[in-house]
Amino acid sequence: MSTSNTDILVHTEAGISTITFNRVGKKNSITSSMYATLADLFEAAATDAAVRVVVLQGDVAVFSAGNDIADFLQNPPETLDAPVFRLMRAVAAFPKPLLAAVCGPAVGIGTTLLFHCDLVYAGDNAAFSMPFVNLGLCPEAASSLLVPQMLGYHRAAEALLLGEPFFAEAALEVGLVNRILPPTECNAVAQAQARKLAAKPLAALIETKRLLKLGQAPAVLERIEQEGARFIRMLAEPAAREAFSAFVEKRRPDFQQL
Ligand code: COA
Repeated sequence: MSTSNTDILVHTEAGISTITFNRVGKKNSITSSMYATLADLFEAAATDAAVRVVVLQGDVAVFSAGNDIADFLQNPPETLDAPVFRLMRAVAAFPKPLLAAVCGPAVGIGTTLLFHCDLVYAGDNAAFSMPFVNLGLCPEAASSLLVPQMLGYHRAAEALLLGEPFFAEAALEVGLVNRILPPTECNAVAQAQARKLAAKPLAALIETKRLLKLGQAPAVLERIEQEGARFIRMLAEPAAREAFSAFVEKRRPDFQQL
C-alpha cells in the first residue's frame, strides 16, 4: 500500500501497516483529500494479503484536531459518498485488528475513530473531545450510539453536549484506552502489540473480531448514515457557518441570535 498524499504516511512491513497523520503544522486536522486517502488505504488494507494489522498514529504532541474546519467551510461533504463518510464506513467495517496510538489532542473524528479501534494506547498527554455541538453540528461516526454504550448515558451526554475534553485517566477508566504511556513510548508499544497480533493466525483474528462486533455491526453502519445525513444538513445551517467562520477568523462564535 502506498499514497502520494504527504499529509498521510503509510508504511507496511512484516504484516503491519502503519498509517501516520503527517500534518502537524495544522495539528493533523483532516482535509477532504486526506479523508479520501485514508478511505482508500483502509479499503485496500481490508483485502491486501500483505496487511494483517493496521496501526493509526499521529505525532507525539497531537493525534488529530479533527476535521479541517477551513476545508469544511470551503468544501463541505454534500453526500454520504463523500470521503469523510467513506472513511467512517471503511473503519467501522474494517475486518482486521486496528490499533491506535494517541498522544495530545484527539478532537472530533480524532476521538470518534477510536471507538472503532480494537486496541488504543494513549500518551499521558492525550486529550479527547467531541465538540460537535460547539460547532453547530451533531455526532458522527456512530458516536451517538457507541459513546453512551462505553461511557454510560450521563458521561456521554457531558462529553457530547458540552464538548469539553476528557483526559487519559478518564479514558482508561471507561475503557476507551488500553494503557497510558509516556508519549514517547506510545507508538513503540502499539507497534509491539501489533507485532504480537501479526504473528497470530489471521483467519482466527478476523473471525474473532467479526464475532465481537456481530451484535452491533449493522446498527453502527446504519447510525453512520443517519448521523451523516443530519451532519450534512447542519453544515449548511447558520450555527455551523458562524462557528466555522469564527474559527477561521480566530474569534469567539456568537450563537445568541441563532
Ligand atoms: N482545522 C483547521 N485548522 C486547524 C484545526 C482544524 N480543526 N485545528 C488547528 N488548526 C490550525 C490552526 O488554525 C493553526 O493554524 P495557523 O498556525 O495557520 O494559524 C494551527 O493549526 C495551530 O493550531 P492552534 O489552535 O494554534 O494550536 P493549539 O496547540 O493552541 O491547539 C487544538 C490545538 C487542537 C486544541 C486547537 O487547534 C483546536 O481546538 N482546534 C480545533 C479543533 C476542532 O474544533 N476540530 C473540529 C472537530 S469536528
